[in-house]
Amino acid sequence: MIKKGIILAGGKGTRMSPLTKAVNKQLLPLYDKPLIFYPLSVLMLAGIKNILIIVNKGQLNQFRKILPEKNNLGIKIEYKEQSSPRGLPEAFLIGEKFIGKDNVALILGDNFFYGQSLTKTLKKNISLSKGARIFLHPVKNPNLYGVATIGRNNRVKKLIEKPKKTNSNFAVTGLYFFDNKVTQLSRKLKISKRGELEIIDLLNFYKRKKLLKADFIGRGGAWLDTGNINDFYDASNFISTVEKRQGLKIACLEEISFNNKWITKEEIDAAIKFYGKCDYANYLKKLNYP
Ligand code: TTP
Repeated sequence: MIKKGIILAGGKGTRMSPLTKAVNKQLLPLYDKPLIFYPLSVLMLAGIKNILIIVNKGQLNQFRKILPEKNNLGIKIEYKEQSSPRGLPEAFLIGEKFIGKDNVALILGDNFFYGQSLTKTLKKNISLSKGARIFLHPVKNPNLYGVATIGRNNRVKKLIEKPKKTNSNFAVTGLYFFDNKVTQLSRKLKISKRGELEIIDLLNFYKRKKLLKADFIGRGGAWLDTGNINDFYDASNFISTVEKRQGLKIACLEEISFNNKWITKEEIDAAIKFYGKCDYANYLKKLNYP
């Protein structure tokens, strides 16, 4: 069972400069919320209440303003700093104490997931007890991503980073489930040529032991890039279109928490005060309380 989740919310955000010179990418608005709300909502939809957010050194207080440790979300938030972006597996070294004896999910702070098939897939995999799980999404241009080839029982046969040629159009998304061995294995990783610890090397440890499986966020779900400004605006437009059409918000954290029965109307009222007069607070006021 996965009970803990890490959000990796550091990074340089070079592709989004100058926007990211003073503000971390994860705090920029993706339509009507800071980007970090979206990956946090994914962990919450999976039923994870214990969250570690890893941020760049010096940026902690900015994150705390919007997601304080003492929050109205019915979840436990902890923070740790990363002194420089030395690669995704560093999350498990920085988070060693947080992870303790548990299994853990990792989500990249700039990944946007949406759709019914997503919640179903999360719920299905949250019971993981051994090995690792990756989540794949079909893309038109697999050469821009880490790509996986799948064998019987969804076992991962091959992982290739940005392949020139591939038979698979399944990209590896920024959501990973790991058993408790992950910290120990991360310690064995060597820095790559580009100067980082590589998630692919970590996944390959599991693959070699036949303990790496994949699941799919199929065409009923969306996984969108937010790495450069065009992708960022496309994702913002997607959210705006869906929200305006349905009158429902994507990644309204209090709503998810309320539906999970983690909070009551009392916390929602506190959240309305916390956000002040705004569209998001108005939405909270209109939620249907039994
Ligand atoms: P990247 O896409 O590798 O990088 P980035 O967001 O810093 O952007 P750019 O390539 O434009 O410089 O990172 C993906 C996500 O993971 C992003 O949200 C930042 C986060 N991250 C960390 O927090 N620590 C790390 O060591 C790395 C490599 C990424």
